[in-house]
Amino acid sequence: MFEMKELPFEFSALEPYMSSKTLHFHYGKHYKAYLDKLNELIQDTDYADIPLEKIIKESYFRPTDKAIYNNAGQVWNHQFFWNSLSDSGAILPPTKFLKQIEDAFGSYDNFKKDFKAKALAQFGSGWCWVVQKEGKLNIVTTSNADSPISLNLGQPLVCLDVWEHAYYLDYQNRRADFIDAFLNHLIKW
Ligand code: FE2
Repeated sequence: MFEMKELPFEFSALEPYMSSKTLHFHYGKHYKAYLDKLNELIQDTDYADIPLEKIIKESYFRPTDKAIYNNAGQVWNHQFFWNSLSDSGAILPPTKFLKQIEDAFGSYDNFKKDFKAKALAQFGSGWCWVVQKEGKLNIVTTSNADSPISLNLGQPLVCLDVWEHAYYLDYQNRRADFIDAFLNHLIKW
């Protein structure tokens, strides 16, 4: 049985960039629903007593366990996302990553442009990640419940949820404005 991870900030702490209303729905309804469903699906199965990451990696290769994969993935992705959000303004990457960002993107501003372009280009529901693979930083997107850990894309460092439920109440169809708010006010490395 998995339990909900506590949000590392108050529901209203990210306003005006992410409203308390959005977080109440996102955390209390969407995230909770994935976690409740996962617990229901794994009960009395071989998945019942293994770590979440292992459930994701094993169910990925079993088409009959697609529902388990999707709900486990969404639980893991959301927990990673809660920890990619800062309640005290955008937090810049640690020095060791800043050097890698300059190597990979030229500058932090260029990194933000690339991240925004990729997050905007993700068609439909999904996620935008910064990953580190073989000492190199990269920006990747994944669809639905996929993640860098299931697709073996590298070690995730930070992520943005670009499912509509993450921003629709605050930004309606303006995903670009939501991405800007994340990069300029909410990102936590
Ligand atoms: Fe979400």
